[in-house]
Amino acid sequence: MLNELKFLLDSKTSKETEKFGNIYKLVSFIKKEKIFPGYEVFETAGTEPIVRCGGKDILMLSSNNYLGLSKHPKVIAGAMKQLELHGGGPGGSRFLCGNVEILEELDREVARVVGKEDAITFPTGYMANLAVFQVIMDPFMSGVPYSKGSGVIFSDENNHATIVDGCRLSTAKKEIFKHNDMADLEKRLKKYPVSKHKMIVTEGVFTLDGHFGKLKEIVALSKKYNCILMVDDAHGVGVIGSAGGGTPQELGVVDDVDILMGSFDKTIGCMGGYLAGNKKLIEYLRVAARPYMFSSAVPAVLGGGAIESFKVCASKEGSALRKKLMDNSKYLRDKLELVGFKILGDGSISVLPVIIGDENKSIVFSNRVLEEGVYIPCFRWPAVPKGQARARVTVMATHTNKQLDRVADAFEKVGKELEII
Ligand SMILES: Cc1ncc(COP(=O)(O)O)c(C=O)c1O
Repeated sequence: MLNELKFLLDSKTSKETEKFGNIYKLVSFIKKEKIFPGYEVFETAGTEPIVRCGGKDILMLSSNNYLGLSKHPKVIAGAMKQLELHGGGPGGSRFLCGNVEILEELDREVARVVGKEDAITFPTGYMANLAVFQVIMDPFMSGVPYSKGSGVIFSDENNHATIVDGCRLSTAKKEIFKHNDMADLEKRLKKYPVSKHKMIVTEGVFTLDGHFGKLKEIVALSKKYNCILMVDDAHGVGVIGSAGGGTPQELGVVDDVDILMGSFDKTIGCMGGYLAGNKKLIEYLRVAARPYMFSSAVPAVLGGGAIESFKVCASKEGSALRKKLMDNSKYLRDKLELVGFKILGDGSISVLPVIIGDENKSIVFSNRVLEEGVYIPCFRWPAVPKGQARARVTVMATHTNKQLDRVADAFEKVGKELEII
């Protein structure tokens, strides 16, 4: 595939390529090779177990709405109330005119559920990750308190693209350690003096690998080498932990994590993101984080929905939904493994990364199971290593056993057809 792309480098300049280079040619090539990511158009919300697509009912297996809270009556009521009060958008940043009461409540609710003193919220998790590295690792005013480029960020190689992009905005040196490999992380930490300004960043839940980040071990190293520790818990908050506080709550390290990042777009079923930590840190972020200052606030309608969703997560109902989710996940895992699929992970999380292998085969797999009534796009290189394309099956608490049986049947049929199993 990459060899075939070389034609782009040799091609002669035309009127079209003068301006945009070979962008159009690249897109045509991707379409011709049928590797253009499919963007199916859903006629009903893509967050539900059954979605309407192309006039047919399709089983949804790739939504991050793990507990089904996006359409929870309390979430809808909370959002509707704010929509009526405040309308569609905030009209500006929190500093300008967007700081409506409900957002102050949202900050407090996030902090309460994840177990930190305070939190700052953004319209997306991406923005939270874009904000944090520059502001923590780089000089704030005229080289104070550090000089440019003097810090080091230690980042897991499998960290999400939004962490990678956030790190790029910082002048700090980057050390990329092997995924969940504590020996490699320590080897890299040892290269720098203890007094060096350092930060370690990992994810709480690695959904494409099916397991937690090694938070306990990383906490120990961050203490030994005097590092700030940040955990991106986008896929952990609400769905992991005894009260939905996320992966640090589950692993008993909430107080040891300095910066806890998360998203409202997955379990919380709304949209937005946050950074949580101690009061002083959050106060600093409020005056220094550029996406917070220079972009509009979280719309009240989403804040109102997210608050209700956090409350459900922390309640008995949340615990029951988490149990149902894990039961559903085990039910499908057992069925798929029985017919020969290789599934990554240790069963600690609900997401099932099912190995398909070859990149092109994974595209055919997705298309064929869609014909069988199941929607599951595959992740391919460069999102995952070459030759290890996978279907990231996101079971939801709202799936029924009957629906999961249909998924297993479709996977088995297509898996045999394509000689994956
Ligand atoms: C691990 C991780 N971090 C951050 C984000 C970004 O969150 P959001 O979708 O709220 O921008 C995502 C989104 O997929 C994610 O998976």
